[in-house]
Amino acid sequence: MALHPITKAIRTQTVRTNEMEHSTPMFITSSFCFDNAEEMRAAFADETDDNIYSRFSNPGVNEFIDKMVELEGAEAGVATATGMSAVFGSFMALLKNGDHLLSCNGVFGSTHNIIKKYLPNYGIECSYVNANKPEEWEAAIRPNTKMIYLETPTNPGLDVIDLEFVAALATKHNIILNVDNCFATPLSQRPIDFGAHLVLHSATKWIDGQGRVLGGVIVGQKKLIQDIYLFCRNTGPALSPFNAWVLSKSLETLDVRMERHAKKCFGIATALENHLKISWLKYPFLQSHPQYNIANKQMKNGGGIVCFELKGGLERGRTFLNNLQLLSVTANLGDTRSIASHPASTTHGKLTEEERQEVNITPGLIRISVGLEHVDDILNDILQALEKC
Ligand SMILES: Cc1ncc(COP(=O)(O)O)c(C=O)c1O
Repeated sequence: MALHPITKAIRTQTVRTNEMEHSTPMFITSSFCFDNAEEMRAAFADETDDNIYSRFSNPGVNEFIDKMVELEGAEAGVATATGMSAVFGSFMALLKNGDHLLSCNGVFGSTHNIIKKYLPNYGIECSYVNANKPEEWEAAIRPNTKMIYLETPTNPGLDVIDLEFVAALATKHNIILNVDNCFATPLSQRPIDFGAHLVLHSATKWIDGQGRVLGGVIVGQKKLIQDIYLFCRNTGPALSPFNAWVLSKSLETLDVRMERHAKKCFGIATALENHLKISWLKYPFLQSHPQYNIANKQMKNGGGIVCFELKGGLERGRTFLNNLQLLSVTANLGDTRSIASHPASTTHGKLTEEERQEVNITPGLIRISVGLEHVDDILNDILQALEKC
């Protein structure tokens, strides 16, 4: 029977053991046994796909990967310890000395650090293109451009980039398109359907959805994934089998969670849009979003994040956080508990003003990750904190 990816995210499971468990078991083991030397030799020679060692593979980790492959419509996948090891692994496995990486400018802070501080040490050229200026993308491609990397929507600025447009450029110039789909999740947006070759996630965010574990995953074309798999297998950022179990179970509820997060977030964005203390507000599914039409084309919902610029800048941002009573002030997003953050004084606090501008972080930018609490409670807390700004 052909099953929908949402059903597969619930029903995909490791082969049932002799205990006849219903829910998926955990495989908390570093290594796996062989009946004899010949079986072990064959596994190491890749003549069988038997598990050898949990840095290489683990049944629970494979289950999580298989579900993500189904959800994203990919050919294959690799799971990693964190979202950052997914980002770094995809760069290091596929880029070499002399290659050029072209990235959108509004990327997550640690990704920015990899691009600016570390890749140049390995002779990899990197440059940014303005996420909001599609007319600049093609001119930014160089003869040695090997990969285009982008987030859409971007963290934290919620810029939306036209996947179909960038994928066409990547195809024309024979470049790998690698998309961080962390904010949208495959329940809203499937970059591979628009022509992306690789899609990665910080599974720490909406995929876990309850702020419990770290994890990452990269899915996409088999031949690219094989190179990334070997890089990760050799260098070591394996996803823990325990975390894989948590993440695989979480995927069973991702569809219902994301629908509710997005619905609540849309309600909050609509209610705050014209607030007197806010100079602008962005949510992909509000008509006022500069890329509303693109968001509508490639996303099924606007996601669970809304951001806005507080009038009064840096100081007001801090005051806002200090006056919240319900929302958590914590360095995460994509949780059942709503979270507020002020990137200019926290995640991006070490950057210079100029560097912050380069990645679209304005002084009063507030990012809200809308949880699953009652929408009135979330909104009322934001409103009372705005009152005090
Ligand atoms: C868009 C995006 N990509 C990657 C990461 C890195 O993920 P992790 O913290 O799991 O390493 C984050 C973390 O916030 C993120 O928001």
